[in-house]
Amino acid sequence: MCGIVGYTGNHQAAPILLDGLAKLEYRGYDSAGLAVRDGSKLAEVVKATGKLYRLADKTDQGRSLPGTCGIGHTRWATHGDPSMINAHPHVSGNCSGSGSGAVESDVVGVHNGIIENFAELKEKLLHHGYVFYSDTDTEVVVKLVDYYYKKYKIGPIDAITRTMVRVRGSYALALMFRDYPGEVFAARKDSPLIIGTADDASYLASDVPAILKYTRSVYYIDNLQVARVAPGSVKFYDLNGDEVSLPLTEITWDAAAAEKGGYEHFMLKEIHEQPTAVRDTVNSLVKEGRVDLSAVGLTEEIIRSLTQIDIVACGSAWHVGMAAQYVIEDLVGIPVRVELASEFRYRSLPIGEGTLVIVISQSGETADSLAALRVAKERGALTLAIVNVIGSTIAREADHVLYTLAGPEIAVATTKAYSAQLVAMDALAVEMARVRGTITADQFGRLLEELSAIPDKIRRILEDKERIQWFSSKIANAHDIFFIGRGLDYAISLEGSLKMKEISYIHSEAYAAGELKHGTISLIENGTLVIGVLTQSRLFEKTISNMAECKSRGAYLMGITTNGNFSVEDSVNFTVYIPKTDEHFVSSLAVVPLQLLGYYTSINHGLDVDKPRNLAKSVTVE
Ligand code: F6R
Repeated sequence: MCGIVGYTGNHQAAPILLDGLAKLEYRGYDSAGLAVRDGSKLAEVVKATGKLYRLADKTDQGRSLPGTCGIGHTRWATHGDPSMINAHPHVSGNCSGSGSGAVESDVVGVHNGIIENFAELKEKLLHHGYVFYSDTDTEVVVKLVDYYYKKYKIGPIDAITRTMVRVRGSYALALMFRDYPGEVFAARKDSPLIIGTADDASYLASDVPAILKYTRSVYYIDNLQVARVAPGSVKFYDLNGDEVSLPLTEITWDAAAAEKGGYEHFMLKEIHEQPTAVRDTVNSLVKEGRVDLSAVGLTEEIIRSLTQIDIVACGSAWHVGMAAQYVIEDLVGIPVRVELASEFRYRSLPIGEGTLVIVISQSGETADSLAALRVAKERGALTLAIVNVIGSTIAREADHVLYTLAGPEIAVATTKAYSAQLVAMDALAVEMARVRGTITADQFGRLLEELSAIPDKIRRILEDKERIQWFSSKIANAHDIFFIGRGLDYAISLEGSLKMKEISYIHSEAYAAGELKHGTISLIENGTLVIGVLTQSRLFEKTISNMAECKSRGAYLMGITTNGNFSVEDSVNFTVYIPKTDEHFVSSLAVVPLQLLGYYTSINHGLDVDKPRNLAKSVTVE
């Protein structure tokens, strides 16, 4: 949902900024732009619509834009269509906004987030003689900073903090002021922003991979803080303009983890990283035959006191919640509600004492999930975040955090983070069951063994990926695909369907198999592909019957089932087998062929798998 970068140091800024933006393109890719300053000369702005390579071409890979200080942006449109005029950076002065050249402006800025009261602020600025060239909320913020800067004449920090008090919404802002060459000013509320330093240079970015090539020492700037970024030095201020100190964090993960490493796409690489992501996550929790939640801070006393669990998330993370619901209810017997974060935040769900609200989020920045977390806290619930990005807002605001160890996920469609979330929830369920005495010591030991065996079983599924590749070429012309299953198999169907539609643009739906006959079955016609997930032994016959109902109406059937269930082949046209595991954990295996099916179908259509249209990795707007 937009990525921003900044650099100030001794090197040419534009190539460094472009390099950083390339790592952030997953956050948005409908236009991009740079503003670079050469000493005390005016900032030069260059923008281009479309993917980042067009900006790189336009600036001769950054070489035509001299200067050692600059900011950059890659956009996912919120206010205003994806056009040159709306592309960032935005400027405080009067100009056409359409393109390139030196800007006669006191303030130039880039922004990730959304300013809710921008219309009201624009009115105010129009009244003060400002003229607007774009439809963006960002231009309003940049001009508001300029307004306070000129009105009070006490410098950038003061102008920015006054603006922060006035705006409502979310932002990570990077600004350059004409009177302060060699410096970038940044501010943050509810949108991600990190600042890195090296000996003679400083960097800022929406996400760590953008600067990892240059430095591993980063500051996580807090909400409602401002940073003054100079070469090799950063100062932080609170909303009163008082200087505050922040800890410097060393990033320990490998830069190679954020590169494609020989794979054609990030998504395929990340699908293959699942054994590692799952193993690392399981190993961080399961130690010497125990589940160790000491880092999470969930004590046995807390676990015993729980009477209700609410799981809140969006998209694939919500699908993890749907799967976890069946596992927790079956193993632990605590009632579980799974809510879409975008709905939860506006509902009046009673949250009683003893309720644990679990927010699941890869990015830790999803606006709806963050808002739901805050609502849950306001209503007095204890909160637990299952998050992948260390130091993200949801991780910081929840009472307890369980980090998944999937590493950086770049492809917009999630795979390895989803799988890491699944096993984290499974480990949690098993531990809750042990503490509350709903499973025996023997069952506990066996479940942990099964959990630890999952990475190897995922690896075995990946070794047979060519069969899925072949099948995807057969179904490439499908118009509608239905994914059906019951119980946990329904939760897996939800994720399979989302993987298919978001990257292949083929319409697909997931249905609880028994529900199909209540209306949707009328859509089944000759050749409609129906994919049945058949991993739950007690529901197997029922789902097979539902698939037969589809077949008799002309459907073409694919089934996913556990090794040994060979009778499936009597009923379906194509079968995929997954290794046997405890049925509570089967989602971790059954989802892999479905991820591959979505991936190869997208490739067959020649689509941009890693950056599907209209999407962004981290949805920081409502
Ligand atoms: C789908 C996908 C999205 C995310 C959703 C939540 O492949 O990636 O549905 O799962 O936007 O994102 P996080 O987990 O970052 O809160």
